[in-house]
Amino acid sequence: MSYDLTIIGTGPGGYVCAIRAAQLGLKVAVVEKRGTHGGTCLNVGCIPSKALLYASELFEEAGHKFGEMGIGVPAPKLDLPAMLAFKDRGVDGNVKGVEFLLKKNKVDVYMGAGKILGPGKVEVTLNADGKVEVLETKNIVIATGSDVAPLPGVTIDEERIVSSTGALKLPKVPGKLVVVGAGVIGLELGSVWRRLGAQVTVVEFLDRILPGMDSDVAKSFQRILDKQGFTFKLGTKVTGVDTKGKTLKVSVEPAAGGAAEVLEADVVLVAIGRIPFTAGLGLEEAGVAKDARGRVVTDHHFATNVPGIYAIGDVIVGPMLAHKAEDEGVALAEQLAGKAGHVNYDVIPGVVYTFPEVASVGKTEDDLKAAGVAYKVGKFPFTANGRTKVNNTTDGFVKIIADAATDKVLGAHIIGPEAGEMIHECAVLMEFGGSSEDLARTCHAHPTRSEAVKEAAMAVEKRAIHM
Ligand code: FAD
Ligand code: NAI
Repeated sequence: MSYDLTIIGTGPGGYVCAIRAAQLGLKVAVVEKRGTHGGTCLNVGCIPSKALLYASELFEEAGHKFGEMGIGVPAPKLDLPAMLAFKDRGVDGNVKGVEFLLKKNKVDVYMGAGKILGPGKVEVTLNADGKVEVLETKNIVIATGSDVAPLPGVTIDEERIVSSTGALKLPKVPGKLVVVGAGVIGLELGSVWRRLGAQVTVVEFLDRILPGMDSDVAKSFQRILDKQGFTFKLGTKVTGVDTKGKTLKVSVEPAAGGAAEVLEADVVLVAIGRIPFTAGLGLEEAGVAKDARGRVVTDHHFATNVPGIYAIGDVIVGPMLAHKAEDEGVALAEQLAGKAGHVNYDVIPGVVYTFPEVASVGKTEDDLKAAGVAYKVGKFPFTANGRTKVNNTTDGFVKIIADAATDKVLGAHIIGPEAGEMIHECAVLMEFGGSSEDLARTCHAHPTRSEAVKEAAMAVEKRAIHM
């Protein structure tokens, strides 16, 4: 078969690229070795984790908050198999949705492992019967995503020592869960199991949680998580896990050196980041260059050093986020169809889907200090917002950072309920080069949490009304 475009991997990067390219009239094939489409995100990432975050949040609310609102319910009983089945149904619905969309857009699907034989040639070993087919194609897109970063000396068995994949299907709530890494996965999945009854200790190498997020936000958020019952061991490294007994013994010691300590755990979740996945792709034989961290090297148009071979998503540089992969997929498809596709890397939101949520777009104060840019900050707490006050969900704040000279909004950071939805008005504003004045003068409906965004923008010029 011969194609304009063959994409290896149908995660958010690959399947979105395929659909956009097909919409623009290209003849497209996709190759996927997993049994289903949607990649890490739909199968073992964004989607299943959000199902469990939603269900566990309601479980905790029913146990702790309903009473104060006058809703008398008996203490909720956890049916974990049913909760996991709820998650699995959600995943199934989503992956079938992608299958439908690929079919609707007349994308040819090859379920099997793809290998690049060289420019214009992709070999597929079909899952169904092991037969090998070679696809002729003008262009190839590598969209093979990422895999769990291993912790040296600790073997993941996905039962007692798990990655995020195992943590999404534990058959029993662990009495004690030790999470290695206070990043997004550690805090999201740590929240799920804490809400369902686990005692959660998070061991983090750095002296802060959520590296990369605004440090003021991270500090406040840690205090909120402390209140919820998380235990943090910051500036601490795991040196090994003894699996001999019924209880795991996790050896930890201060990152800067010092006395070692042993933590007991029923389950250990290793969440210290993800690494690009290119095993078996034939990159070395095809001469495609990778950097020191194993990422496929691309230029601003997603082109690798080999003509006709491109790469997008987690396998290249940049935040490992589904929407970043999707936007790169759209931009590349448009470029290959002769249009001007483009991704604005300055305006990629990031959300931690805990309760409250943490959402961020653009520059942090730390970034601007490091770059020597003069800026102004407006901050507004949810304790002063009518809607969150009446709902008794007042943890958190909105922070808007604007350029000191031009007032252009450079960053927005929110801790609060639904922060992941609220961040988008800031993203749109920033995409249009808007100022804090623009945001402050935009009428916001009352009573909404989003009024806190407007008030934070007003606070940039010290004229917030409700504080
Ligand atoms: P992937 O989704 O990893 O897809 C790559 C696909 O390529 C896979 O299906 C793989 O089977 C296939 N493949 C690999 N090699 C081959 C080959 N040789 N032949 C054929 N197929 C191949 N991001 C967010 O934005 N929001 C979230 O809430 C979020 N939550 C997450 C939660 C967890 C627990 C995890 C682990 C990740 C989460 N992420 C989230 C990150 C998100 O999943 C990734 O950024 C996203 O999936 C990257 O998309 P991708 O298309 O680059 O790669
Ligand atoms: P991460 O990069 O977010 O966090 C890893 C944490 O582990 C960091 O705090 C790091 O300092 C720490 N760490 C590294 N080595 C360590 C060690 N040896 N001991 C102790 N701590 C150590 O990575 P995470 O949480 O694994 O997530 C992987 C990727 O998946 C992220 O890049 C993220 O973008 C994506 N993701 C996104 C989500 C979202 O958007 N809501 C949800 C989950 C994952």
